[in-house]
Amino acid sequence: MLINGQWTDALSGETLDVENPGRKTIVGTVPRGHGEDVDAAVNAASKAFDAWRKVAPRDRGKILLSIATALEQQVEPMALAIATETGNAIRTQARPEAGAAADIFRFFGGLASELKGEQIPLNENMLSYSRREPIGVVGAIIPWNAPVLLAALKIAPALCAGNTMVLKTAEDAPLGVLLLARVAQEFLPDGVLNVLTGLGHECGAAIAEHPQIRKLSFTGSTSVGKSIMRAASDRIAPVSLELGGKSPSIVFPDANEDWVVDGIVTAMRFTRQSQSCTAGSRLFLHEDIFEPFLEKLAGRAAALKMGDPLDEATDMGAIINKKQFDKVCGYIDEGLALPDARLVTGGMPDTEGPLSEGYFSHPTIFADGSNDWRLAREEIFGPVLVAIKWRDEAEVIRMANDSHYGLAAFVWSRDIGQALRTAHQVEAGWVQVNQGIGQLPGQSYGGTKQSGIGREYSLESMLDSFTQKKSVTVNLDIPAPPAP
Ligand code: NAI
Ligand code: MG
Repeated sequence: MLINGQWTDALSGETLDVENPGRKTIVGTVPRGHGEDVDAAVNAASKAFDAWRKVAPRDRGKILLSIATALEQQVEPMALAIATETGNAIRTQARPEAGAAADIFRFFGGLASELKGEQIPLNENMLSYSRREPIGVVGAIIPWNAPVLLAALKIAPALCAGNTMVLKTAEDAPLGVLLLARVAQEFLPDGVLNVLTGLGHECGAAIAEHPQIRKLSFTGSTSVGKSIMRAASDRIAPVSLELGGKSPSIVFPDANEDWVVDGIVTAMRFTRQSQSCTAGSRLFLHEDIFEPFLEKLAGRAAALKMGDPLDEATDMGAIINKKQFDKVCGYIDEGLALPDARLVTGGMPDTEGPLSEGYFSHPTIFADGSNDWRLAREEIFGPVLVAIKWRDEAEVIRMANDSHYGLAAFVWSRDIGQALRTAHQVEAGWVQVNQGIGQLPGQSYGGTKQSGIGREYSLESMLDSFTQKKSVTVNLDIPAPPAP
């Protein structure tokens, strides 16, 4: 773990194993941090804060840019670490993720001079201005599905704005983030960034509850997000939460085309085993195109090459761990048992052969679905897509919005008026029309409803999530000093 610029074990000496889920082999061991390690990290971050906040913003930005350049040199080892520990395929996922992490540092490094306040004309004889000040020690907790990218997305804006940080990696994917921290530490003063490894209910909960942590930024499940928010409420600490989703993909009858089929595969994040909060996992297909579209989609999904995450030819790797694998299998099992559900492709995992050696789950599509199915309501976080038939626009929008989540949505139509009308009515933080790509630096990204609060990826997100505004009002009209 990285505490105060030093690489250290847990004070208890305890460790956690890291597994390659594609091979079910142990590939590393990391410290199992507890509350006492969190204390040490928070102390270091508190001590470093006073000097770091006073570094000129552009100089902080230059440090982030240096980290970006150094990370660009480390894309291969980081990609290897990500693929090994997460099971995400190196070509389709892990390498792009490592590159995106560097890009996030570059983006925020360039924004350092935008940490501006405003001047407010309250009165002719009054100067009123605001400052964007850092909040203090930020506690960040990240998941395993895109660990290095999500670490970058918390570290870069928080540090750029002058905060210091204690970040906890996900127990399943600490290695790539530790590599990133090793690179970053070469350029940062000691204690500005502290990275802990450990379990959620031990190390994570200690971060959530720590009185000296002034802001919490969490990405993960909605249930843990709620516990973070409860912990923060005790000390009125602001929170940013990026939680789950059950995002609708709405296909209009004029979009029965191959590029849309490809777009649905991308939007569903099949090549990340659909372990993505923005996965378009509820597919609303218009009844006029339901069967032909589904047939093409099933062919495309089944053609994805699943296998060893480290093999360049692999499109789709393994599910992160046994717990998630069993959870995904449980949903598939439930779909198979539903009398009115039709399995279009996929199904239960192989029990023999090479794919039984890791946590591999075939891309699976159930058709004739109902929006009321558990499969259509709960975040599966695995490659299980439910296709639901719709007839009129009002009906599909009602179904799309009938979810306690509201993260992403996808609309597919050549009729832009119709597509935008739909985009405006869907309850989601991010709607894509005629594409299903991942987030890009510059956009404000985040959820509505139980998908979260706060935004990431943008200048606005850095200002809103990682600074607090202070107003200073100055009387310009004080009486002349008394004569000597
Ligand atoms: P999780 O929410 O338990 O884990 C995310 C992070 O929170 C990890 O670093 C974990 O150690 C930490 N954590 C867990 N319990 C905590 C606690 N009590 N206090 C503080 N930190 C805690 O997610 P998990 O168990 O890995 O996956 C379960 C489900 O969560 C998935 O099936 C998926 O539905 C959802 N999920 C959503 C993600 C997203 O990107 N929005 C990412 C990962 C999971
Ligand atoms: Mg693992």
